[in-house]
Amino acid sequence: MKKLFISLCLTITAIFVFAACCSAASMSYDNGTLTIENMSNGGLVVQASYDENGALESVKLHDDVRNGENAITANEGDRLFLWDGVNSMKPECTVIVVGSVNTAEPVTEPKSDTNNILMVYFSRAGENWQVGTIDKGNTAEIADYILENADADVFEIKATDPYPVSYNETLTRVNRERDNNERPSFEGKIENLDQYDAVFIGYPIWYGGLPMIMYTFLEEYDLSDKMIIPFSTHGGSGWGSTKSELKTLIPNGKFVDGYSIAGTEARKDTTKEAVKKWLEGIELPKKAASQEDMVLAAYNTIQQAMVDADIPTLRRVIKDDKTFTHISGMVQTKEEYLADI
Ligand SMILES: Cc1cc2nc3c(=O)[nH]c(=O)nc-3n(C[C@H](O)[C@H](O)[C@H](O)COP(=O)(O)O)c2cc1C
Repeated sequence: MKKLFISLCLTITAIFVFAACCSAASMSYDNGTLTIENMSNGGLVVQASYDENGALESVKLHDDVRNGENAITANEGDRLFLWDGVNSMKPECTVIVVGSVNTAEPVTEPKSDTNNILMVYFSRAGENWQVGTIDKGNTAEIADYILENADADVFEIKATDPYPVSYNETLTRVNRERDNNERPSFEGKIENLDQYDAVFIGYPIWYGGLPMIMYTFLEEYDLSDKMIIPFSTHGGSGWGSTKSELKTLIPNGKFVDGYSIAGTEARKDTTKEAVKKWLEGIELPKKAASQEDMVLAAYNTIQQAMVDADIPTLRRVIKDDKTFTHISGMVQTKEEYLADI
């Protein structure tokens, strides 16, 4: 029976390899039945069904869909991943979402799910300590090095009333903000804070502490339970009190060791390298798999189960009414097929 497996696997592979010149498939949906036509060389359909909460409930493989034969029983909300005329195992396929009014529309799925890492930083360009007048702040330089190595959405904290270019005027304003315990406002907002598992937080050291605008931000956005990765630049004093200030502002944050460097070092290649090395030591949370990734993983499970003769898995994933046609013409039901393995 191993031969049967191998022939089935080869058939599937052949469908992938030889179905390279198909015209686009079309489909119709009527009362729970989806018919796919114009799959001139046959194709593969992976059907994913979801529960009412949108969680993936089951995945079925249909390897016998062609030219309107073998219609698929589908429910509203099912997603069908249709490989027609591709010779790659990559999930570059038509995705069909079964709709309610006798239609099944191809949709464009996002390539990957949303980012789970956020980079938030504040940095001031202009006249700065020992680096002259700069177009991009020192902390912003470090933020860019991080972004070269970590895939993150970025929120730059930009003061609504920008800080002066003059260093001395900035000191005067910052002194006032600190004396009055001000909360300078910033532009823009973050829409979906929930999606982030980890947050890089970057800032300059101002008078040994956090710039007041960081208080504005951290009092507005609750970063509890997220991984917090601080980084900062300074003029010689190191972190100052900022790490303990952060811990007070985010009491339930999961802090990891941060990165701090003098602003005068920010533009050096050695710093870029040091940032990379520091990041290598941090285990950033992994992105949740996209639906497409999940379906592809399920598909690979099916393939592997066939190769391994893993009957419990095959019983779970093969639809009950599927028949198997041997190369000799012999037709078997699912259970006959499984029993023969
Ligand atoms: C208002 C102000 C206060 C500062 N206070 C300190 C300080 O207490 N300790 C220190 O080492 N550097 C201090 N600096 C220097 C900055 O921390 C340093 O230049 C930093 O790299 C600036 O980052 P940025 O370019 O991202 O704003 C201060 C700078 C400013 C503008």
